[in-house]
Amino acid sequence: MQNKIAFITGASRGIGQACAVALAQAGAHCIISARTQMGLMQTDDLIQSVGEKATLLPLDLGSQDACKQIDLIGPSIAAQFKRLDIFIHAAFQYVPLTPVTQITDVAWDKNIQVNLSSPWRLIRTLSPLLSATKNANAFFFQPMASYLPFWSPVTAIHAALGAMIQSWQQEIAQLSSLQIHYLPLSPTNTLLRQSFFPAENKQTLNTPAQTAKEIIAHIIH
Ligand SMILES: NC(=O)c1ccc[n+]([C@@H]2O[C@H](COP(=O)([O-])OP(=O)(O)OC[C@H]3O[C@@H](n4cnc5c(N)ncnc54)[C@H](OP(=O)(O)O)[C@@H]3O)[C@@H](O)[C@H]2O)c1
Repeated sequence: MQNKIAFITGASRGIGQACAVALAQAGAHCIISARTQMGLMQTDDLIQSVGEKATLLPLDLGSQDACKQIDLIGPSIAAQFKRLDIFIHAAFQYVPLTPVTQITDVAWDKNIQVNLSSPWRLIRTLSPLLSATKNANAFFFQPMASYLPFWSPVTAIHAALGAMIQSWQQEIAQLSSLQIHYLPLSPTNTLLRQSFFPAENKQTLNTPAQTAKEIIAHIIH
C-alpha cells in the first residue's frame, strides 16, 4: 500500500476506523472523515501509533451545506494527492425502526440525505479521480437490512444503494480499471449494530478489526 491514497468515510469508530488503521498499517495515506472531531482524532492517534499520518476531514453528511462540501472533495483530493486508490464508504447514520405509516418527515429526509444521497454525491465527485487512478477500488456495504416489519427505512436504502452501485459498475466497466464492491459484511460489534440489536450476544460478533481484514482482502491491485 506504499504511496497509495485512501479516503474513508465513517472513520471515527467501528468498521471505518478499523479499515483506516489497517490501511495505514499497510502503508497507505488515509484521508479520514466523520462528524465527530474527537473520534477522528482517536483514529489519527491509532494511525500515528502504527507510524503513519492521516488527513482529517470533519464533515456531517446530514448538514445543510454538506452538498457543497461533498462536491469539493474530489477536486481537493485531486489537487493535493493527484490520485485516489481506495475509497471506503463506511458512514451510515442510525435510523429508528418504525412502521412505514409512522416514519416522520425529519427521519425520512435525514435517512435519504445521509444514507443515500451522500453516497451518490460522493460517487459523482470521486469517480473521475478513481477512474483515472490505475487499479483503484471503491467499497460500499450492504446495510444490515431485514425484510421484516419496521425495517423499511433501512431496506429502502439497501435496495436503492444496491441498484445505483450496480448501474455505476456497468457504466464504468469498459472505461476504467476501477473495481467497485458492494459487500455484505459479517455481523460486527459496533455502535450501529448495538443500536439495531441491543439484546444481541456480542461474543458471537466480529470485532471491527476482523471485519476490516475481510474487507481489505477484496482489494484488487
Ligand atoms: N456492524 C455490522 O454488523 C454491519 C453489518 C452490515 C453492514 N454494516 C455497514 O458497515 C458500515 C459501518 O458501520 P459500523 O457498524 O461500523 O457503524 P458505526 O460504528 O456506528 O460507524 C458509523 C460511522 O458513520 C459515521 N456517521 C454517522 N452519521 C454520519 C453523518 N451524518 N455524517 C458523517 N458521518 C456519519 C459515524 O461517525 P460520526 O458519528 O462521528 O459522524 C461513524 O464513524 C455501515 O455502512 C453499515 O451499514 C455494518
